[in-house]
Amino acid sequence: MNKDTNNDIAVNNDMENSLNNTNNLEKDNQKFLTVTMGCQMNVRDTEIMEQMLREMNYEATHEQEDADLILFNTCCIRETAENKAYGRISSLKKLKEKNPNLIIVVAGCMAQKDQEAVRKRVPHVDLVFGTHNLHQFPDLLQEFKRYHHVKTSIWEEDEGLVPVLPTKRKYSFSASVNIVYGCNNFCTYCIVPYVRGRERSRLPEDIIAEIKELVENGVKEVTLLGQNVNSYGKNFKEAFDFSDLLIEIDKIDGLERVRYMTSHPRDFSDKLIDTIAQSQKICEHFHLPIQSGSDHILKEMNRGYTREMYMNIVAKIRQRIPNASITTDIIVGFPGETDENFQETMELVNDVQYDSAFTFIFSPRSGTPAAKMEDQVPIDVKKERLQKLMELQNNSSLRINKALEGQILQVLVEKVSDHNSDMMSGRTRTNKIIIFPGDEGMIGKLIPVQVTRAQTWNLMGETV
Ligand code: 5AD
Ligand code: SF4
Repeated sequence: MNKDTNNDIAVNNDMENSLNNTNNLEKDNQKFLTVTMGCQMNVRDTEIMEQMLREMNYEATHEQEDADLILFNTCCIRETAENKAYGRISSLKKLKEKNPNLIIVVAGCMAQKDQEAVRKRVPHVDLVFGTHNLHQFPDLLQEFKRYHHVKTSIWEEDEGLVPVLPTKRKYSFSASVNIVYGCNNFCTYCIVPYVRGRERSRLPEDIIAEIKELVENGVKEVTLLGQNVNSYGKNFKEAFDFSDLLIEIDKIDGLERVRYMTSHPRDFSDKLIDTIAQSQKICEHFHLPIQSGSDHILKEMNRGYTREMYMNIVAKIRQRIPNASITTDIIVGFPGETDENFQETMELVNDVQYDSAFTFIFSPRSGTPAAKMEDQVPIDVKKERLQKLMELQNNSSLRINKALEGQILQVLVEKVSDHNSDMMSGRTRTNKIIIFPGDEGMIGKLIPVQVTRAQTWNLMGETV
């Protein structure tokens, strides 16, 4: 639906005297800086917006004082994510006063959720547009620069699939590829279906063509992105599901590794486990968000599976792919979660023995059913539960990692370690970070590394 509301998209009304932009329009080599918050989808969207800026004669800078335009790609999955975004945007107020020509753009999920709120809370921002309007960014920016004002139609629902143009990726050897946009699951705590719209799958031929082109340009690893990759192809007339897509991608010559995120246990089929077990390139890493170990809470969350169904999937993965790593997402303090319900989560975590887990305190998101539920859990109880869960999980992570000591693993080298410039950082097929002595010439290469010491969050190693 393309609703022509002829609405103003986030214009700073104080701009009249601050932007004398005809000169600005002509100036070459304007500089941009981007700040991305949230998930891999946002990382990918930022790459697309950066490419749009490059095509408008902008170049990247890391110094905010040098920037002519600063773009925030925001997340609203939890309140903490929004507060972080507001904090960073607010901190630019001084810079904006010093340099009134600076254009501050707020894009992404927080902007999609409530543009008015963004404009009110950070009025020094110039342009605000949500995820559904991402592909209008160049027009919106040009319009803003010309008239200091934006009139546009706001897409309430991003139903279209916009063609993907070649974009500069974060790494030259690893790239993310969208396969399905949006989400139809409506888990009762989650804002994503409201800000990312309904599920839409890209055509297999478009995805394969994009990956082949990436591989021709040196990419070795692709990560297939979707809020729920397992529902890929559900809207196609002819049957073609996520497993079928993986089978085709696995055949691409020159590609070394395939990852995907995120999986939903509701749609995780035996066919998919078989496909992954038989493939060459699909990494042995399963990120399978459980959210809660209590059947009652899972039902309240509208997750569509029980603890038993989940444990069956885990058992099948372990049986077919014994060296697989399994990770998860867990929310504590969902409304109505009792001590017993939380205990069930602890037991499940103990039973599964996850390699690692992202653990979150439930954050009520206005507009979602869970925000209105009774029996909200007090914050100190939530914090206490999170602490216990993290301790339990950290013990498992360390125990599982310790079992890898001495093993030689294939590693894709990503970068110089953030903490020590003599060390390199890479990832195993099971998605573990490994740090080892090396040099920049290794970046983008697949090399064998022996694990010398295991820690909770990463492995230390030596090249062999
Ligand atoms: N509160 C806390 N965590 C949430 N997640 C999604 N919505 C919320 C919320 N309202 C978590 C889920 C999801 C991950 C990406 O974020 O665990 O899997
Ligand atoms: Fe949110 Fe559930 Fe969709 Fe994941 S599957 S994006 S948690 S609604």
